[in-house]
Amino acid sequence: MSASSDASAHGATPQPLTAGRSGPLRGRFKPPGDKSISHRAFIFGLLSVGVTDIEGLLEGDDVMRTGEACRALGATLTRHGPGRWTVQGMGVGSLLEPKTTLDFGNAGTGSRLMMGVVGGHAVTATFDGDASLRKRPMRRILDPLEAMGARVVDQAPGGRCPIVLEGTSEPLPIDYETPVASAQIKSAVLLAGLNSFGRTTVLEREASRDHTEKMLAHFGATVHVAPWGEHGRKIVLEGRPELKPRPVSVPADPSSAAFPMVAALIVPGSEIVLESVMMNPLRTGLLTTLLEMGADITVDGRRTEGGEDVADLRIRASRLHGVDVPASRAPSMIDEYPILAVAAAFAAGETRMRGLQELRVKESDRLAAVAAGLAANGIRHSVVGDDLIVTGGPVPGGGSVETHLDHRIAMSFLCLGLAAERPVTIDDEAMIVTSFPTFKGSMAGLGAAFAQEGGA
Ligand code: S3P
Repeated sequence: MSASSDASAHGATPQPLTAGRSGPLRGRFKPPGDKSISHRAFIFGLLSVGVTDIEGLLEGDDVMRTGEACRALGATLTRHGPGRWTVQGMGVGSLLEPKTTLDFGNAGTGSRLMMGVVGGHAVTATFDGDASLRKRPMRRILDPLEAMGARVVDQAPGGRCPIVLEGTSEPLPIDYETPVASAQIKSAVLLAGLNSFGRTTVLEREASRDHTEKMLAHFGATVHVAPWGEHGRKIVLEGRPELKPRPVSVPADPSSAAFPMVAALIVPGSEIVLESVMMNPLRTGLLTTLLEMGADITVDGRRTEGGEDVADLRIRASRLHGVDVPASRAPSMIDEYPILAVAAAFAAGETRMRGLQELRVKESDRLAAVAAGLAANGIRHSVVGDDLIVTGGPVPGGGSVETHLDHRIAMSFLCLGLAAERPVTIDDEAMIVTSFPTFKGSMAGLGAAFAQEGGA
């Protein structure tokens, strides 16, 4: 389709990469656009009547797959420059039936949100992806969609991809309590509910990222959000709005900023600035945790860009200490545990990360992958139930890390290698393009020592 569809993570032979002990990291840059908002920008463009302008889009493989799916459902997507796109949409209720399989590659978010879109329309589509996506549980999405009237025509055992989903032209409005805190489940139900005559209600016990609700309101839908229970939210959407195209400016992704942030904290003498990082409170759990650990991070120039709070983060190398991270914080930092485990390896004492059960069903079993990576690099740790406990101290490194088609495992252990005593090698860097295509260049620009083969 253009941009980074040629940078696809698929089918290539594994590309190992080594990170070695680096001198102080110095410099500043703006991390790439937020992945969650980028997926949604394409999807809301598809569901609006008219032309949606997008700037700052993440041109990673995951988002490009969602773009391809939007095309297959009738949208016209045009690239006008780096991160600048327009989407000529079809409108709620007017999608075309895709002629080919929707291949989402590695993208859990893209596939699950688009299941919601298809489930609420009179189209049938086949959803598939790579070996990682084929392992991920989809019943959590299909169950509410079936309650709304969609039909699962075919599925791999355990409700996995490939999945053939037949949507309904009149989805039933439902009240749905999500079984786990998941913005993907919430979003799929709301997106299906858009084409419903009536009100769709989603209840969540722990608030998950709210980009879908914000964009629904931004594009003209009537959506009410209220507190529910101690930490939760109730979201009520009025069906059948006519979504109007609205410009979308995508802020820098805090989940990508997490990697240079932790790298600068653990590489002695470092000082970097990360510009325009999204500060949505449902995404800043890692920042909160690192500050508790004693990180020297200053938050400057708080402002609003494209409807989200952003700020410039100045990060200086710091002496960290272990902390106890409550399970209730998990939804606001669900993708950041692998890199937090790396920070914990360099922190004095013990860090306990509680309630990580959802990590087992991400792009890989992240709990197992992190534990194996820590073991390979001589770091004391244990997994007790759903908690990960890491004991910091000197980090020997020298390990080979299996990434299991998981971009965040790849980037986390490369960051570990920048400050460990001996170089760290990951088995494959290919998946990094799914979320942070410029990772290697941006990090090298700060002074990170990467080498394609052998030691750094
Ligand atoms: C996302 C939600 C999270 C997160 C994923 C992006 C989203 O997944 O892990 O990377 O954009 O809605 P869950 O909702 O399954 O926790």
